Amino acid sequence: MKIGILSSGGDCPGINATIRGVGKTAIMHYGMEVIGIHSGFKGLMEKDFQVLDEPSLSGILNLGGTILGTSREKPFRKMLAKGDPEKPQVIKQNYEELGLDCLVCIGGNGTQKTANLLSKMGLNVVGVPKTIDNDVWGTDITFGFDTAVNIATEAIDRLHSTASSHKRVMVVEVMGHHAGWIALYAGMAGGADVILLPEIPYDMDRVCEAIQDRSRRGKPCSIVAVAEGIETPVKSRPSDYVSEIIESTTGLETRNTVLGYTQRGGNPSPFDRNLATRLGGYATELIAKKQFGRMVCVKGDKISSMPLEDVAGKLKLVTPDHELIKQGKRMGILFG
Ligand code: F6P
Repeated sequence: MKIGILSSGGDCPGINATIRGVGKTAIMHYGMEVIGIHSGFKGLMEKDFQVLDEPSLSGILNLGGTILGTSREKPFRKMLAKGDPEKPQVIKQNYEELGLDCLVCIGGNGTQKTANLLSKMGLNVVGVPKTIDNDVWGTDITFGFDTAVNIATEAIDRLHSTASSHKRVMVVEVMGHHAGWIALYAGMAGGADVILLPEIPYDMDRVCEAIQDRSRRGKPCSIVAVAEGIETPVKSRPSDYVSEIIESTTGLETRNTVLGYTQRGGNPSPFDRNLATRLGGYATELIAKKQFGRMVCVKGDKISSMPLEDVAGKLKLVTPDHELIKQGKRMGILFG
């Protein structure tokens, strides 16, 4: 068999470990041919690819980013909006001309949606979920998330000591447009006092009162973890808005830090390396068994798979009854 691998959407730590997991299993265990397609679906439209042999897959396990490059190309956008099928047709033609038996699509929600549409057009596709946001439906966890939580937690740890020295309130903004997984996990692991998630409405009066109450109880510094996707009444960065209101209402000196792309860059954690390797190996197993149109996923401590059409168009959000939220509330942490 001949398979193609591509990474699409925002990058995240662990993509190279997946490419290695898929590629080495395909070549060494199943005797397949493997090509790596550059820059996501854009590369498939332009036939921009490289042959992946065993030596080219060495030394990438711990590497951040993606050796194949990525793009946010959404080939079905025009077709869905205006009925223009040009890009999907070019992809189908190139898939056939390259002699592919399967396309492995490593990506987040948008990528899995595209993978499902390609599958419906008759291409053999297997999806591998990835994103630091951990919001892909159908899988308990995505690789990249653990690394991002480690980075954000370390940042919050560092903010604690400077907050304490200066008796300041520190607002830290983490990634997560729709889902607050990073804010929840890093906020809890970093001992934040207030955690604001896109999924839970918040009230700035309550936030300020909680910080003032801490101050009255002899705790002059506080940490507020904010997801970048929380709604604000004004058009500004969430952490700008939150810190301005806190300072003007409480009179306590407040600073904010936006972690941004540091959460997505750099080497994957050991957990993410192993998760990506397992998912990559399982994806190749599905191909060998000709089980196409599926996305590999994590259920408990097991790797399995589910139909792409069950995943497409859905988001996995934090629910207010999440165990960490319930426990946080019991310890006086404010979630809005
Ligand atoms: O990878 C997911 C994510 O990191 C989001 O949390 C973030 O808002 C978004 O990607 C930004 O990525 P880009 O600027 O590459 O579109």
